[in-house]
Amino acid sequence: MTRELGRLEDLPSDYRDALAKQNLVPLWPNLRAVLPPGKPQPKTRPTYWSYAALRPLLLKAGELTPMEKAERRVLVLANPGHGLANMQASAAMYLGMQLLLPGEWAPAHRHSPNAVRVIVEGESAYTTVNGEKCVMRRGDLILTPSWQWHEHGHEGDQPVVWLDILDLPLVYYMEASYHVDGPRQSVLPVRGDLTYAHGGIVPSMSFERDQKPYPMLRYPWSEARAALVALAENQPDLTMVQVTYVNPETGGDAQNILGYYAQMLRPDQTLKLPVRSPAIVFHLIEGAVDVNIEGERFTLADADTCCAPGYSAVTLQNRSANAPAFLFLADETPLHRKLGVFESRD
Ligand SMILES: [Fe+2]
Repeated sequence: MTRELGRLEDLPSDYRDALAKQNLVPLWPNLRAVLPPGKPQPKTRPTYWSYAALRPLLLKAGELTPMEKAERRVLVLANPGHGLANMQASAAMYLGMQLLLPGEWAPAHRHSPNAVRVIVEGESAYTTVNGEKCVMRRGDLILTPSWQWHEHGHEGDQPVVWLDILDLPLVYYMEASYHVDGPRQSVLPVRGDLTYAHGGIVPSMSFERDQKPYPMLRYPWSEARAALVALAENQPDLTMVQVTYVNPETGGDAQNILGYYAQMLRPDQTLKLPVRSPAIVFHLIEGAVDVNIEGERFTLADADTCCAPGYSAVTLQNRSANAPAFLFLADETPLHRKLGVFESRD
């Protein structure tokens, strides 16, 4: 049984005033809020963002705001539990849907937060990251880690949309968030996605391995999907058909703070996820999936996104009896593990 503690109003007002004058705060009236019993009380709420609903609003932003007035034309997927103005999906994750129209260019910059993008629709756009031109196709994951130069261009004739995922809320909270602008990059003849095109083998020039912290910047969806299908076929009894995006040289997480995964649900499959400390984001790439988060149910259709707070019970169900469903997941696992607060209760 957790004991009730004294309240602020139990203290004489002249004593409270004397404390405030010295920039002092009594701990006991606030202790249960910052150290609740049993489990955290997250501000992050289960939240769902419909792509069909946001798409016309994003295209309207393309009419209302020219690129030079936006720099990055993004509608932020904000979690009401954190207050919409704070632009957070969870404690550490930021999500934004970005629109690039034909012929537009989002100028080069770099910044302290890590970013990735998952391509949602459109063809012939690209992100140049440190001189490497990464083409953008539906479902591809493109990394722009902390302090890497990046810019976006578009050579096609239809709008291109992608989902940005950043650790911005965390870096901002740490008062370490800022950016630097730069000149347009020259494109270099490097292709990390081709260098690491095959699993289990890596280049070894002069018997040495590449020491770059981010040797691979574009992870094609075609490869992730093929890996999931092969995994499901090879292991018919496997419950959780999932792959993690990693640094192919080290096998470690692709980025330092957030984790990225691709998942397949077999036809008709219901999958109960372990209850874990990190918040998690689900983005639907193919099929239709019901997501149940602590009793709140969302149906994800193509390109829909939802967020579950940490320590919540999450169940996924493929709505199709005939076809597999495919999801992209992002979470805060690398951060929790590095800080020693990671927990899995199942
Ligand atoms: Fe950026």
